[in-house]
Amino acid sequence: MKQLLLLFIPIFIFANQENNQNFKEQESFLSTVEYGRMLYKNPRGISCQQCHGVAGRGGQKIAKYYDKYKNPKILRGVDIRDYSFEDLKASLNNEYKENNRTKRHKIMPMYYLTDEEVKAIYTYIQETNKRD
Ligand code: HEC
Repeated sequence: MKQLLLLFIPIFIFANQENNQNFKEQESFLSTVEYGRMLYKNPRGISCQQCHGVAGRGGQKIAKYYDKYKNPKILRGVDIRDYSFEDLKASLNNEYKENNRTKRHKIMPMYYLTDEEVKAIYTYIQETNKRD
C-alpha cells in the first residue's frame, strides 16, 4: 500500500504541473486577445472599429459623398475578417497586394504598428468572430 502511494504522489505532482502550465498558456493567449481588442478599438487614437465595424465585420459608415452625377453615396468599411496575418500586416504598411499589384490606400490612415501589435489585432479579430 505504501509503495503504491509513493508511486502515485509523483504522478499527481507531475499532472498538476502540466495543468498549471496549460493554465498559464491559456491566460497569456487570452491577454493577447484582450490586447488586440484594445488595439482594434483604439490604435493611436483612430480606431479600426470606426471604419471596419465590430471585430472587423465591416459595413460601418465612413462617409457620405456625392458622385459626379450628384447622386448621394455612402462609403462603408470593408469586412476584414478573411484577411490573413500576412495580408493584415501588408495592409497596415500600405503594401497590400491585389492581383500582384500594390493597392495603395486612398482613405485608410497609416499606423506604424509593430508586428506584435498587428498579431494581437489579428488574433482578436479571429477569436472574436469564432466565438459567435
Ligand atoms: C478612416 C477609416 C479607416 C480606419 C480607421 C481603418 N481603415 Fe482599414 N480600410 C479603410 C478603407 C477605406 C479601406 C479600403 C482601402 C482604401 O481605400 O483606403 C481599408 C482597407 C483595409 C484592409 C483591406 C486590405 C487593404 O489594404 O485594402 C484591411 C485588412 C484593413 N483596412 C485593416 C484595418 C485595421 C487593422 C485598422 C486599424 C489599425 C484599420 N483598417 C483602420 C478604412 C479604414
